[in-house]
Amino acid sequence: MDTKLKMNVFYKILFERVFDPIALYKVDDGKIIFLDVNPAYEKVMKMSRKDLIGENFFDVWPNAEKRWSDVICQALKQKRTMHCIGESIDVNSYLEAVAFPIPPDMAAVIFLDRTKLKKSDSAFRKKQSQLRALAAQLTLSEENLKRSIASDLHDKVGYDLISQLKILREIEAENLIDDEIKNKIQKLIINTENIIAENRSLIFELSPPVLKEAGLNPALEELAKKILEPNEINYKIISKGSDDEFQTDDSVSIILYRMSRELLINVVKHSKAKNVNIIINRKPEIITIAVEDDGVGLPEDCEKGFGLFSIRERLLALGGKFKIISEYKKGLMAVMTCPLKIKKGEFLP
Ligand SMILES: Nc1ncnc2c1ncn2[C@@H]1O[C@H](COP(=O)(O)OP(=O)(O)O)[C@@H](O)[C@H]1O
Ligand SMILES: [Mg+2]
Repeated sequence: MDTKLKMNVFYKILFERVFDPIALYKVDDGKIIFLDVNPAYEKVMKMSRKDLIGENFFDVWPNAEKRWSDVICQALKQKRTMHCIGESIDVNSYLEAVAFPIPPDMAAVIFLDRTKLKKSDSAFRKKQSQLRALAAQLTLSEENLKRSIASDLHDKVGYDLISQLKILREIEAENLIDDEIKNKIQKLIINTENIIAENRSLIFELSPPVLKEAGLNPALEELAKKILEPNEINYKIISKGSDDEFQTDDSVSIILYRMSRELLINVVKHSKAKNVNIIINRKPEIITIAVEDDGVGLPEDCEKGFGLFSIRERLLALGGKFKIISEYKKGLMAVMTCPLKIKKGEFLP
């Protein structure tokens, strides 16, 4: 047998024995005529070869989704392999069709059953959205917990420490005590002052007071000052839409504040930037914060870090978005978008 003949036998065996359905069509004057189908096609589509050959696709499958005929015509028209994927009501499966043109007017289509893949994909997506919902709940309850600890530290511990300091100062001022006790009292005063300062900075970390008292814009300004100024990076706050006009949930403000902090630390750590713009844009129902730097941009072989990943995941979970626009050696802009208000109970599946 010569090589050509051997190849023909090989193709014939392949066509007959392959487990995936294959159909061969001729396209003529808008009609798609069956030229041949393999045994797998007969089995999966529950049609016999002899009933198909010579028939028009649209007569055989009058209810078929348009994509299955389109893929054949497009493969021939564009003279290249085309594929489509979707539910087929006729065979009750999720199929992928790969159509190969055989110019001038024939096309072969191989159908791949993707039902299992689709099922595991939907199960995966469902799990992913449940995880995101959980992450959103965790973020919100973490912030609530931090805020309530901060307010206890402020209202109870802070108050008690101030009263204690007052009493110690009163004792110190009295002339009745001897020098040894006076020394000890002075040490206690210094200690108490230190604890008060530590308590204040702990409260600040847990729930920045400026955020609560003055709002997100001044809080971001203070943050930029604290993080960028010591590193000689200039910054500008550009704001559109006021907090009064478009009120933001406390939980959204604090989450965006913490994410902005991560972005500003990234600027210091990775960007070599000289200038930073913090753009705050409020619109009905939505707030966008962009941190733009004129540094080196994302490296070409950028390692995926947890900081940016966690910002993206948390924003997606809250119904927001995260986008990074980076130009190599020209800078980076990280854009966070989030709804102004988080509806209670929205996130648990
Ligand atoms: N402003 C920036 N300019 C340049 N590269 C950045 C910037 N922000 C982040 N990157 C790059 O993206 C990577 C991932 O950032 P991130 O997820 O925050 O992780 P980490 O800061 O822990 O490295 C960084 O390692 C860095 O290479
Ligand atoms: Mg980081």
